[in-house]
Amino acid sequence: MTDIELDEIHLDEKYITQIQDGVLFYPCSGYDVKLPISLFAPYVNQFIFADLCEYRNLKNPKFKELINLPSNYKLQKSVIKGAVESDFTQHWNYRSIEPGVRDFKYYDKNTQHRVSVLFRRGYGIYALRDLVSELDVFFYRGDSMGEGGSDARWNTRPSISCTLSKLKDGGLYITDGSNCLQREYSFLKNYQNEYNKKEYPPGRDYFDKSGNMFSCVGEIGPRYGPTFVWKVTKNKDFNDLQSTKNDFERAQKLFFHVNELQNSSDDSNSFYPMTQKSNSL
Ligand SMILES: C[S@@+](CC[C@H](N)C(=O)[O-])C[C@H]1O[C@@H](n2cnc3c(N)ncnc32)[C@H](O)[C@@H]1O
Repeated sequence: MTDIELDEIHLDEKYITQIQDGVLFYPCSGYDVKLPISLFAPYVNQFIFADLCEYRNLKNPKFKELINLPSNYKLQKSVIKGAVESDFTQHWNYRSIEPGVRDFKYYDKNTQHRVSVLFRRGYGIYALRDLVSELDVFFYRGDSMGEGGSDARWNTRPSISCTLSKLKDGGLYITDGSNCLQREYSFLKNYQNEYNKKEYPPGRDYFDKSGNMFSCVGEIGPRYGPTFVWKVTKNKDFNDLQSTKNDFERAQKLFFHVNELQNSSDDSNSFYPMTQKSNSL
């Protein structure tokens, strides 16, 4: 591990070292890339950070500065694909942003381990749909509904079902419970906004309605409350292809900007109560 607050990490190393050639996906990541990279670098082959992106331009050198790999990792090349710039400030409909990726490819000169750190600018749920086939680690925190947050309900159905359909059995689901709007998953935000607590009582296992078991195995520091690490034991019947397809279709509709909701005739939106008037992004 590199320069991170080690005293804030309460996670048995076995949960990290058991990952082999893994994929980590972090939607709405903003600039919060240092910790996931530092924690998982030797065990993950691909980091995918998906954001509408503040950087505006994929050529922005800021991307490289964010990558916090140990010094034995050398940059081999960086590849840009898709739209180098797309002026999303002109579009309220973020879904129409032309996606672009900047992929930094590194290798460890001691072990030859290769790792790609990929920044995808575009609409988050499309990144999950298009770039991720199997996921070892899902990472999502520091987000909110309105007030500069994304409004994107990653910790809520149907989006969470899309993520779980890609997460491997025993994969890690890491979150501070941001944007969790349903009781079914409310355990993800048990201690949200409790900043001063030093210790958390050992959690029990929780099941979602699809029979997936969430076991809290650690905590890796505060964001909007503690960021907990959940090991997900999948219900083996859960990855039904048709329901996954339906979940993605619904999630795409539901990752709306509030203006879109007002114009939408899709009844499924009423499943999710929305009270705030605007999204300041
Ligand atoms: C409140 S910031 C959180 C950043 C980061 N998670 C952190 O903890 O610092 C929300 C981020 O979500 C991004 N965002 C908003 N809507 C999005 C969408 N539909 N898909 C992907 N990213 C989105 C914004 O650009 C912003 O960087």
